[in-house]
Amino acid sequence: MKGLFIIFFTSLFYFTVLNLSTAADTLAASQSIVSSDTLVSSSQSFELGLFSTGNSRAWYLGIWYRNFPDIVVWVANRENPLADSYGAMMLSKNGSLVLLDQMNGTIWSSSPSKEAEDPVAQLLETGNLVVVDKAVTSSESYIWQSFEFPSDTLLPGMRLRLNFKTGPNQFLTSWKNASDPSLGLYTYKIDHLVLPQLVLAQGSKKEFRSGPWNGLRFTGLPVSSNEILKPSYVYNTNELYYIYEANDNSIITRLKLTETGEMQRLVLNKGSTEWGVMYTLQNDRCDNYGECGANSICKINRTPICECLQGFVPKSQQEWEVLNRTSGCKRETLLDCQQGEGFLKFQNMKLPDLLDFSVNNSMSFKECEAECLKNCSCVAYAKSNMSSGGIGCLMWFGELIDMREFVDEVSDQDLYIRMPASELGNSTSQKDKRVVLISVISAASVLLFLGLLCRCIVLNKRAKRKVSRSSKEDIELPLFDFHTIEIGTNYFSWQNKLGEGGFGPVYKANLRKEELVAVKRLSRGSGQGLEEFRNEVTMIANLQHRNLVKLLGCCIEGEERMLIYEYMPNKSLDFFIFDQNRKKLLNWQKRFDIIMGIARGLLYLHQDSRLRIIHRDLKSSNILLDRDLIPKISDFGIARIFEHDQTEGKTKRVIGTHGYMSPEYTIDGKFSVKSDVFSFGVLLLEIVSSRKNTGFNQPDHNHNLLGHAWLLWNNNKGLELIDPCLEYSYVDNEVLRCIQVGLLCVQKLPTDRPAMSSAVFMLCNEGATLPEPKEPGFFTERSSIDNKTLTGGARSHTGLTLTISTLEAR
Ligand SMILES: *[C@@H]1O[C@H](CO)[C@@H](O)[C@H](O)[C@H]1NC(C)=O
Ligand SMILES: *[C@@H]1O[C@H](CO)[C@@H](O)[C@H](O)[C@H]1NC(C)=O
Ligand SMILES: *[C@@H]1O[C@H](CO)[C@@H](O)[C@H](O)[C@H]1NC(C)=O
Ligand SMILES: *[C@@H]1O[C@H](CO)[C@@H](O)[C@H](O)[C@H]1NC(C)=O
Ligand SMILES: *[C@@H]1O[C@H](CO)[C@@H](O)[C@H](O)[C@H]1NC(C)=O
Ligand SMILES: *[C@@H]1O[C@H](CO)[C@@H](O)[C@H](O)[C@H]1NC(C)=O
Ligand SMILES: *[C@@H]1O[C@H](CO)[C@@H](O)[C@H](O)[C@H]1NC(C)=O
Ligand SMILES: *[C@@H]1O[C@H](CO)[C@@H](O)[C@H](O)[C@H]1NC(C)=O
Repeated sequence: MKGLFIIFFTSLFYFTVLNLSTAADTLAASQSIVSSDTLVSSSQSFELGLFSTGNSRAWYLGIWYRNFPDIVVWVANRENPLADSYGAMMLSKNGSLVLLDQMNGTIWSSSPSKEAEDPVAQLLETGNLVVVDKAVTSSESYIWQSFEFPSDTLLPGMRLRLNFKTGPNQFLTSWKNASDPSLGLYTYKIDHLVLPQLVLAQGSKKEFRSGPWNGLRFTGLPVSSNEILKPSYVYNTNELYYIYEANDNSIITRLKLTETGEMQRLVLNKGSTEWGVMYTLQNDRCDNYGECGANSICKINRTPICECLQGFVPKSQQEWEVLNRTSGCKRETLLDCQQGEGFLKFQNMKLPDLLDFSVNNSMSFKECEAECLKNCSCVAYAKSNMSSGGIGCLMWFGELIDMREFVDEVSDQDLYIRMPASELGNSTSQKDKRVVLISVISAASVLLFLGLLCRCIVLNKRAKRKVSRSSKEDIELPLFDFHTIEIGTNYFSWQNKLGEGGFGPVYKANLRKEELVAVKRLSRGSGQGLEEFRNEVTMIANLQHRNLVKLLGCCIEGEERMLIYEYMPNKSLDFFIFDQNRKKLLNWQKRFDIIMGIARGLLYLHQDSRLRIIHRDLKSSNILLDRDLIPKISDFGIARIFEHDQTEGKTKRVIGTHGYMSPEYTIDGKFSVKSDVFSFGVLLLEIVSSRKNTGFNQPDHNHNLLGHAWLLWNNNKGLELIDPCLEYSYVDNEVLRCIQVGLLCVQKLPTDRPAMSSAVFMLCNEGATLPEPKEPGFFTERSSIDNKTLTGGARSHTGLTLTISTLEAR
């Protein structure tokens, strides 16, 4: 019924538009639009016409958003531009669209699927340019549509498609550069070798791939429960395609393959004028194709990120040590296909690339194992089809390339890799025991911890209701008992004190049986603190990311307000990089991983689909390090939530830390994601150089660290910025790329600074071409805003940095 109704409705709508309206969204046979004429879709979403980009003299026929003429979503004559602004698009009588130049030469023409008797062309609200034959009544039978010939953009309703029988296959091809729509270097398509997988490639060189199709979806891609998009896959004997719709029709979204090979999901909310990158497909270094070479697993939260498979060693130890993983790993003990060989299970994996493999969809899992074991050249196997609970057999021969282990996503597959008896026998049984022991311990501690939380929740139900009322927002957070914390911190003794946060001291607390937490106690009686407390609680309770510190709960008792965080045994970043001895513990690879971690955390804050958060106080002492030196952004006391359409805020109370604050924020109180990007840039340069921006001293000039870096960069001496203690561990081009990104982030004008998504991309893509940085903001004012000016609202902060709180600045 519903389906019928929809068909009825759409055809009614369709014919209304087609027959009655003279709106300029249609073109009848023999009509043409010439030069500056355009077609505009019925509700003004899209426009079709001629355009040129930049100051080039080449003209193209294309479709763009009517409200964003610069955002071209489709181009007809990509490879064959018009030489000037004269051009005519005509619908010929047989239903073919043709683009003619001044001399009536055919620049481009469409080839409809069949000849029409009474054709009409229409630009639909979806951005699809279609040709229908009015002599045939069904509105669905387009004889041609632009959606079947994607350019670099996939709009809702458009298909990324693989046709098993006839063409055309539909895929994206990037523009050559931002002002040249001709076919660029990158393509994003469904690659089909018996089993399909998504591949982003530069020419024939793979840059990124998903895992293989598993009957339900492409493996190896995060399964996001996304509120914005409704993706679907259709797989039948004729075709496989990916299609998506926005969940809410006020959301305007597109998927774009950029000129630099980045796959971006962009979103514009209703009423807003700015597009934001919601995510990029290539999210971290493990997403780079073959990052770790053959037979090695990429683990993003490890340092270093590449690990040879168990039982394997680097092919070249020397190269591996300088972080060149191209040659990958080899077996320590060669397989000889003797008795006792077996398989080791690797969980939650992105399956290796389909290079030398075979698949049998009717084999059971047991048969698969037996088959692989029997064939001496089979090195690994996995289930191939998950749509009926996991049948089918996928086997690999030769080297295993592009594997990663997933951390957050719990959906991906198990891979069974062949091992000699020596790896399976005595050694593994020990390893297994260890694993079991560890998991028993951690399960126990999780249970213990959950128990603790539950108790807190139960005991404090009344208190909790109070929080909810008083703060208006419903805080769904465990409440900790004040007395427990008092005992855990030894009555807030100074020996337990870890430091001084923005709004009060932080203590280490031992809550029962080894459960270490960090407790932030807000300075009592400060009305200011209370507001920040609420802010932090509501904000951080909703956030979850590997690179953000985790809030475990809070405690409210009388005037007491406390936040309970996971405990970070390695303190904060400043504790390492600014200390003559400890800085040696962070080699280049670790520093680079820390930089990437911070960047990803910040990207999450800025572009999470639900909230946009400006941290406003990013600095080295707010980057905590866990046991594995994974960085966690902390201290959300003064962070702000932006609405999706909000891009900039303004405050009279400029709070932040001197040396990390951007010019527009310090001077005008304006903050935006770009003021955080500025702080990130400062942090990045500090990590590279092990030197503080504030109080920076260099005998030969009067600049701060930013100015120093800028001078070196312009004299082609960028590498001199690096801390000499990293001499043996750094990789030239990685360091230079970091410095360049750092300088791009601290540029004076917010609009020049990259968004975090670009910064992340530039940091982790060796191939990316980076713009040349312009002059940084605040690089010569070393002594102008010195400590003196800050005394007004300044407070000492862990004795390392100063937190300014200039009330009524300006
Ligand atoms: C349709 O007409 C155009 C010119 O009007 C011609 O170039 C094209 O070949 C024709 N196509 C078919 C399928 O007849
Ligand atoms: C192009 O074709 C149109 C109509 O077919 C004609 O009027 C015009 O003179 C032609 N122009 C040239 C330069 O041949
Ligand atoms: C884009 O590419 C064209 C040639 O393909 C070149 O002439 C132009 O300078 C390029 N523009 C930029 C901004 O790189
Ligand atoms: C996977 O299994 C389902 C159900 O058995 C079947 O319909 C589907 O065709 C299979 N897919 C492939 C790729 O074999
Ligand atoms: C990494 O090692 C390979 C040889 O295995 C070599 O060809 C390549 O140039 C090296 N890359 C770098 C960046 O040194
Ligand atoms: C797939 O496996 C089944 C069951 O083991 C077997 O009968 C069939 O011959 C295999 N097909 C191929 C193409 O190997
Ligand atoms: C092992 O598998 C490969 C690929 O399917 C096949 O070419 C080869 O003949 C098999 N070897 C044996 C001994 O079955
Ligand atoms: C244990 O493994 C080693 C090689 O790693 C082998 O020499 C030894 O015989 C094995 N012991 C047993 C009991 O399997």
